[in-house]
Amino acid sequence: MTAAPAGWHPDDNELSGKTILVTGASDGIGRAVAISCARVGAEVLVLGRSESALESVYDTIVNEGLPTPGLIPFDLRQSSSEPYEALAAAMAEADVKLDGLLHNASVLGERRSLAQTSPESWQEVMQVNITAIFLLTRALIPLLESASSSSVVLTSSGVGRRGKAYWGAYAVSKFATEGFMQVLADELATTSRIRVNSLNPGAVNTKMRRAAYPGEPPDNNPLPEALVNQWIYLLSTASAGVNGKTLSAQS
Ligand SMILES: NC(=O)c1ccc[n+]([C@@H]2O[C@H](COP(=O)([O-])OP(=O)(O)OC[C@H]3O[C@@H](n4cnc5c(N)ncnc54)[C@H](OP(=O)(O)O)[C@@H]3O)[C@@H](O)[C@H]2O)c1
Repeated sequence: MTAAPAGWHPDDNELSGKTILVTGASDGIGRAVAISCARVGAEVLVLGRSESALESVYDTIVNEGLPTPGLIPFDLRQSSSEPYEALAAAMAEADVKLDGLLHNASVLGERRSLAQTSPESWQEVMQVNITAIFLLTRALIPLLESASSSSVVLTSSGVGRRGKAYWGAYAVSKFATEGFMQVLADELATTSRIRVNSLNPGAVNTKMRRAAYPGEPPDNNPLPEALVNQWIYLLSTASAGVNGKTLSAQS
């Protein structure tokens, strides 16, 4: 099921007044969604590994005269809770109320059989793709609770809903992402104003897709910019009441 109803388009101020953190915002889907959220009024906090890539997102947003974004250079390979808690503390100190959290960053890892997957690659994929989601969400829940309503979006994949050979740790991490979404959504359903859903982008023309399918003509798939309304819908109050759902960006 697609997230947004057919034909849904955001208003010019759809996310006005909202603060939204996007992980993996330096490239691909995360970059496009962050810039699009700013275009409909959000103050975006863009998190990624590469400071220079984040600065390019910053320049794009600022050059369009949109709300000034915050840059968060942060490596999600960090496995201890301290940096995540320090980030949340710095945001609390700056009086951030978090209306949206898009967990988008992921790594593909090795495209091999599980038997051939190296333990190092397994650990890295699990760290970035699921453990970091736990650590960041855990640290940011108080800031999400401080907003009048907030939306957490987890990024899934087709291979996180049906396992396929040679997708290895990536596929397993995406099943875990779906599990995380269901558990958190159920925990918060009656006790909180935080909504939690998962969104499978489908095939999108990005660096990750091109790496996963090197023989595929890239133009076979839409660019992220063509799909961003699906993310904006889930991050907006237009989707109020949508919680615990397993959704897709493409039908
Ligand atoms: N594209 C598709 O067809 C497709 C299909 C299904 C699901 N998805 C999912 O959609 C999401 C976005 O994918 P994409 O295609 O846009 O991928 P992408 O172009 O490779 O972008 C991934 C983003 O994650 C960031 N990232 C990776 N490792 C990180 C780390 N250790 N710390 C912080 N940031 C890190 C990358 O930053 P760096 O460049 O600095 O590493 C980049 O900004 C992922 O969750 C992916 O699994 C994509």
